[in-house]
Amino acid sequence: MTYSRIVGTGRYLPERVMTNFDLEKIVDTTDEWIRTRTGVERRHVCAEDQTTSDMCIEAAKIAIEDAGVDVSDIDLIITGTTTPDLIFPNISTLIQHQLGIPVCPAFSLEAACTGFIYALTTADKFIKAGETKCALVIGAECITKLVDWSDRNTCVLFGDGAGAVILKSSEEQGIISCHLGADGQYKDLLYYPVGASKNLAVAGTDAAAIMMSGNEVFKVAVKTLGRIAAETLEKAGVTKEELDWLVPHQANIRIIQAMAKRLNMPMEKVILTVQDHGNTSAASVPMALDVGIRDGRIKPGHLVLMEAFGGGFTWGSVLMRL
Ligand code: UT7
Repeated sequence: MTYSRIVGTGRYLPERVMTNFDLEKIVDTTDEWIRTRTGVERRHVCAEDQTTSDMCIEAAKIAIEDAGVDVSDIDLIITGTTTPDLIFPNISTLIQHQLGIPVCPAFSLEAACTGFIYALTTADKFIKAGETKCALVIGAECITKLVDWSDRNTCVLFGDGAGAVILKSSEEQGIISCHLGADGQYKDLLYYPVGASKNLAVAGTDAAAIMMSGNEVFKVAVKTLGRIAAETLEKAGVTKEELDWLVPHQANIRIIQAMAKRLNMPMEKVILTVQDHGNTSAASVPMALDVGIRDGRIKPGHLVLMEAFGGGFTWGSVLMRL
């Protein structure tokens, strides 16, 4: 039986850090409101001339080194992102070229904050089908470039970054099961109103801003994430007690606490980065995974549940052994 296993991780965060106190100077908000309602204390913001692929390349270099593979070993690149550099060519081809990765399938996919979970699930299928031996899988976002910095409802939430993993085929079990879902009936609760074939002319104007009905998103997120976590464990025949770590999407500490409660997991078993990174959309799960592995909390053999929820709505979970 062929499995896929994560054998290396990396992350990149832009240099510039914006604290809640910096935001107090821009919009009518307070550090206290942001911390208590979201858990965010600071976030990294990319430079004006910095692109998503720039961040992906830095994260990928670290993951490649960590995995001890050569760029010539990589035979698949998938990047989950909502903020690619260009509409085309796709961001994975830009990364491929910059890193000198040989000819291989390279594509991006967009599933908002669930982008990395979708990308990892897809790469797992390529490996299990025998098509791929070594995949570079990335979740990355320059989401602050979409933010309306005069809208306190959204500008305090987001941050930029990139997380990368190397996923290799293995005789040993790594990824145990993946579960993806989406329900387009909720498309109007969280969206960005500009695309290649709609409203392109308003890009760069005040009309181009992230639209979010935060409260409603919150409720569906908590309900859906709780349900998929239970389904994931049940399908894999794993009990809550067996889980070593929860690596959740970092949208809001209150959503994460609700999830931990449902799983009977103390917060000590949850990797939290929301305070330092904010909501980095598709980048949040791979960056949190990298944080947990590098600081020695997540160890080889540990059972890890990753999950995410985002615009669409889309959602997904991956249960794995490191
Ligand atoms: O990552 C993809 C999925 N995204 C999510 O999962 C996000 C889910 N939603 C959330 O995390 C929360 O709904 C938010 C953090 C976005 C908002 O928190 P909330 O507790 O749902 O607040 P609210 O939207 O109900 O607003 C409460 C009050 C409002 O004032 P009034 O109408 O009660 O007077 C807002 O105007 O807080 C006000 N408010 C703020 N006050 C200070 C909204 N934003 C701010 C702010 N500073 N930045």
